[in-house]
Amino acid sequence: MTNSKQQLFNLAKLVRDNSYSPYSKFKVGAAILSSNNNLYSGCNVENASYSVCTCAEENAISTMIANSDTLIKELLVMTDTSTGSAPCGACRQRILEFADNNTIIHIANTKEITKTIKIKDLLPHSFSKDDLK
Ligand code: THU
Repeated sequence: MTNSKQQLFNLAKLVRDNSYSPYSKFKVGAAILSSNNNLYSGCNVENASYSVCTCAEENAISTMIANSDTLIKELLVMTDTSTGSAPCGACRQRILEFADNNTIIHIANTKEITKTIKIKDLLPHSFSKDDLK
């Protein structure tokens, strides 16, 4: 694994341990490498009022924005499943907002990265800020 991929993997694994998911028991960790080469992370945070739950990717993106970074170079999402899990539809849209044509998503389980795919291929035919011009 390259150094940046290893850093993303390690960070996602660490933050995933902090997931607050007593209802689904499905822990998710996400880590971002920004275009400025900064790292951010987030985990899913659930709530007794289920619709208030937030996703790991969503929380990692919020932290990136709070630190004045706006472009995702790479995002890694980690779940403890055999193949890893792709970001949900809503999170694909959230990632797209802060992506360019080269933004890469790594899907990982707790052992390894199982798939690497560009966000433009994960969310084709998308609606984006370009549509509002
Ligand atoms: N979840 C994420 O954190 N990211 C996704 O992309 C999909 C789902 C969380 C939300 C909820 O806490 C749990 O996984 C089960 O859906």
